[in-house]
Amino acid sequence: MKKIPVIIDCDPGHDDMMALVLAYGSNKLDIRAVTTVAGNNTIENTTRNALNVLNYIGAKDVPVAKGFQDPIVRTHKAVMERMAAARRETMTEEQRKEQSKITGALAHGVTGLDGFSFPENNPKQIEPIRAVEMMAKVLRESQEKVTIIPTGPLTNVGLLIRAFPDLLPKIERISLMGGTSEFVLTRPFMEFNTLVDPEATKIVFESGVPITMYGYDVTYRVLCGVDTIDRMEALGNQTGKMAAALLRFFMERHNKNLKQLHLKDVTPIHDACAVAGVIDPSLVTESRMLHVDIETSGQYFDGATICDYAGCLGLPANVEVVYNMDTPRFLDMLVESAGNCL
Ligand code: RIB
Ligand code: CA
Repeated sequence: MKKIPVIIDCDPGHDDMMALVLAYGSNKLDIRAVTTVAGNNTIENTTRNALNVLNYIGAKDVPVAKGFQDPIVRTHKAVMERMAAARRETMTEEQRKEQSKITGALAHGVTGLDGFSFPENNPKQIEPIRAVEMMAKVLRESQEKVTIIPTGPLTNVGLLIRAFPDLLPKIERISLMGGTSEFVLTRPFMEFNTLVDPEATKIVFESGVPITMYGYDVTYRVLCGVDTIDRMEALGNQTGKMAAALLRFFMERHNKNLKQLHLKDVTPIHDACAVAGVIDPSLVTESRMLHVDIETSGQYFDGATICDYAGCLGLPANVEVVYNMDTPRFLDMLVESAGNCL
């Protein structure tokens, strides 16, 4: 069966790592490029992490192009400070210290991918063009339409849409991890990826390109437990051991920092959901076409995804919002894909 051409735009990140393992190990996707963006960590760290993961799992030929440190209009630092300030009153002193090192550290550690040490001297290097140029190059040169899978803030995709509108017809779909409709993690309508670059998010959601949104509504339902991590580790290959170590770290951080969710020894793998839905759309068991707008000058939080799930705005639906997936099949796909890697 012909592989589906995709571009993965990510900010590794533990769940981004799993998205890359799934995308490469599934043998169903033709990964034309991986592009990086600052989000979970700085652009230097997310890019280094992407190179390390791809080299380690065997995806040595997948080109990687580096994005930018800052969102389109705001600065990463300012957004992180505002996000931290909004949570400060609920943080312990230890969490404040951790958060102050680098934002995203609470979930992903100071390197953006704490919990596993990759070999030094990774031979894999970034391409000599920037992320948005790489995206345009892939779209321009592709014979068929390409699916874009953003698993971090939407800066690169927003820039692509603004800079190369003539290439939009070459995009099959944007299958993104981001946003939230009804699930509240820390504030209503708030999800990390869409908050980092509200203006880019608005550009993407208003682009007219078909969008499937895998937000917290589904990613905090499709949870990975210790049994799945143990299965990954039992594969015996280096990818299985690496993924298991990183997911254990990610799970521990959820246990420690998201006590309000009363989750115990389970972890979301947010970004892998957006990849899994491209590999096999039948995994999506519940979704709705909704009008989704993005707050960019709000009192509470810019980047919030305002999902009109009551249909009261009378505006056309522009996004397929996913609410549930077949968890057992999703988890089996993760383990199987890890087993197909180095
Ligand atoms: O809110 C979850 C998203 O933010 C995931 O993509 C995670 O990797 C972080 O980027
Ligand atoms: Ca991510």
